[in-house]
Amino acid sequence: MTDLAEHVAATFDPALNPRYAEVMRSLVGHLHAFISDVSLTEEEWATAIDFLTRTGQKCDAKRQEFILLSDVLGASMAVINANHPTGGITTESTVLGPFYVDNPPEFSNGDNISGGAPGSPCFFSGTVLSASGHPLSDAEIDVWQSDETGNYDVQYPDLDKPQGRARLHTDPAGRYSFWSVLPESYPIPHDGPVGELLHAAGRHPMRPAHIHFKITAPAHQTLITHIFVAGDKYLHSDAVFGVKDSLITKFEQDSNSYRASFDFTLASNP
Ligand code: BEZ
Ligand code: FE
Repeated sequence: MTDLAEHVAATFDPALNPRYAEVMRSLVGHLHAFISDVSLTEEEWATAIDFLTRTGQKCDAKRQEFILLSDVLGASMAVINANHPTGGITTESTVLGPFYVDNPPEFSNGDNISGGAPGSPCFFSGTVLSASGHPLSDAEIDVWQSDETGNYDVQYPDLDKPQGRARLHTDPAGRYSFWSVLPESYPIPHDGPVGELLHAAGRHPMRPAHIHFKITAPAHQTLITHIFVAGDKYLHSDAVFGVKDSLITKFEQDSNSYRASFDFTLASNP
């Protein structure tokens, strides 16, 4: 580190909060190294400050542009990967995204949760298991997804009821099932600073088709993940780097409906 970087880092006193000091000292060291590495100009630094200012200004109760920025820089996935090791056994995690709504409507297994969302009928089923392979009964499963137009219910300004969004519970054998529609690929919100960044990088804003799952069970770690539709053309260029091979699933076509089956394995609490 340069003398200046050392001096700044040392102002974070570990006696006050050791973890805060550790994180901030490292951050300051990397920030100064970055400025030096790229010989950052004053104009470039001003552009960066302006970008971050506008990112903050884009945030409101419904829009979190900083999380989106973290997503497109791969930071969200890096934090998830560091905090959810699978040991080769538990289901891999991926991003939550901005379209989760807490306390979705409750449904029973076998119900149709589409709420009239446009799309081809699709049946989802599987089992929720512990890391030792035992079925977890009464696990709480929240699901949410895009429809065939690539929109989530919350993206329709005039829609006054949930669509393709539900809370279910596993049966005594750990099983879940529901009807909905086949999810479609869609662009992440790109009408703000994050969209500018993607454009400047020559990147598209698309995410491959997927359905979200958030699964909680007593004594287990909450699993936030997706099932991705095999064959989607954006699987290798997800705007938020959220694809894991283990989550790509074949959606079997049966005349005009589809079927997807996926078993989830939850890590137990430490
Ligand atoms: C989503 O999958 O809903 C999502 C994730 C990250 C950014 C935008 C959307
Ligand atoms: Fe999504």
